[in-house]
Amino acid sequence: MTTIITTITTLLLFSTITNADNPPQPTPWPEQFHSVLVLNSTDELQLIDLYYDWTNGRNFNIIQYQLGTVLYDIEWNNGTSFFFTIDSDRQCSSVQLDVGILRPNWLAGATYVGQRQVDGFDCYVWEKADFITYYEDVVTRRPVKWVFYTGREAHVMTFEVGAALEDAKWQVPWYCFEQTTPVTTMEDISGTIRHRGLVDFGTRRIINM
Ligand SMILES: *[C@@H]1O[C@H](CO)[C@@H](O)[C@H](O)[C@H]1NC(C)=O
Ligand SMILES: *[C@@H]1O[C@H](CO)[C@@H](O)[C@H](O)[C@H]1NC(C)=O
Repeated sequence: MTTIITTITTLLLFSTITNADNPPQPTPWPEQFHSVLVLNSTDELQLIDLYYDWTNGRNFNIIQYQLGTVLYDIEWNNGTSFFFTIDSDRQCSSVQLDVGILRPNWLAGATYVGQRQVDGFDCYVWEKADFITYYEDVVTRRPVKWVFYTGREAHVMTFEVGAALEDAKWQVPWYCFEQTTPVTTMEDISGTIRHRGLVDFGTRRIINM
């Protein structure tokens, strides 16, 4: 009996130590996925269609502002991004950065901070370099939510692994090559064109939003 208890105690101790030494790691992003996200900020809500396409080195955010504009944001791995509308305004701006899109393992090295209940899901939680808190479903290991250091929250409504957007949809409109306004920050440049790309925001360290 004593032996059994000792064994159990030892096992429990061992598993506790093991867990502390090996915290859960964030699941790398699939190389291609489509996700619908709901984001808030202090003054508005956004619905974002995110097409992450590491395979082809590109990332697409289609950003619907509540009862407002739809902003298209295409980012390539060579650092070029275009932000445009496709209504009669024909607005387009671009930015050239020296970093590409997020890598599938961009969360590697994040600090595990524990398990929390979020949006009704039991989640593992990590913090990455003071700019993002990331929540992943313990059961399915899908992302549930992430929160930027500004307090902006992205809630993951759908997560379709392997879903990709056809090549033709990645075409930038012609006026992007005629009257593109290069911007070096993500400031609101016209009242309509605003970059709120979730992906850029963290890794590219563009804080001037
Ligand atoms: C977004 O919503 C959450 C939850 O309601 C809130 O705590 C947070 O302050 C909001 N973010 C912003 C930037 O308003
Ligand atoms: C990056 O790639 C895109 C898409 O192929 C292209 O339109 C753009 O000109 C490239 N940018 C640079 C700086 O080469």
